[in-house]
Amino acid sequence: MADRSSRVAIAGKMENMADYDEIFLGFPIWWGVAPHIINSFLESYDLAGKTISPFATSGGSGYGRSNKELMPSAPGCQVESGKDGPVRAPRGLI
Ligand SMILES: Cc1cc2nc3c(=O)[nH]c(=O)nc-3n(C[C@H](O)[C@H](O)[C@H](O)COP(=O)(O)O)c2cc1C
Repeated sequence: MADRSSRVAIAGKMENMADYDEIFLGFPIWWGVAPHIINSFLESYDLAGKTISPFATSGGSGYGRSNKELMPSAPGCQVESGKDGPVRAPRGLI
């Protein structure tokens, strides 16, 4: 995570991503951002024209710089404001 360009490979791939217009993208906050495997996911597809609606759990420090570091991995997408909730959210995460 200290190296912003590091990526983790994902086993498997969705074959029908073209069927989706909006992607709800959930992840835990790591060091103020999404884990880099989330960038790997976004970079695995041509998502141009789709809407990404991110949400996250965190230990308390909040959503941080997540969108800033996600957006370059999702060119041509509309990335909505991300929301974060506590790890054990009693009323859901969003
Ligand atoms: C490597 C690592 C870094 C983390 N960095 C943060 C952080 O910067 N801010 C924060 O609020 N929580 C941080 N956390 C806590 C996670 O956000 C929290 O554990 C997660 O949202 C809960 O999902 P999990 O059960 O999969 O761990 C970190 C956790 C890990 C493992």
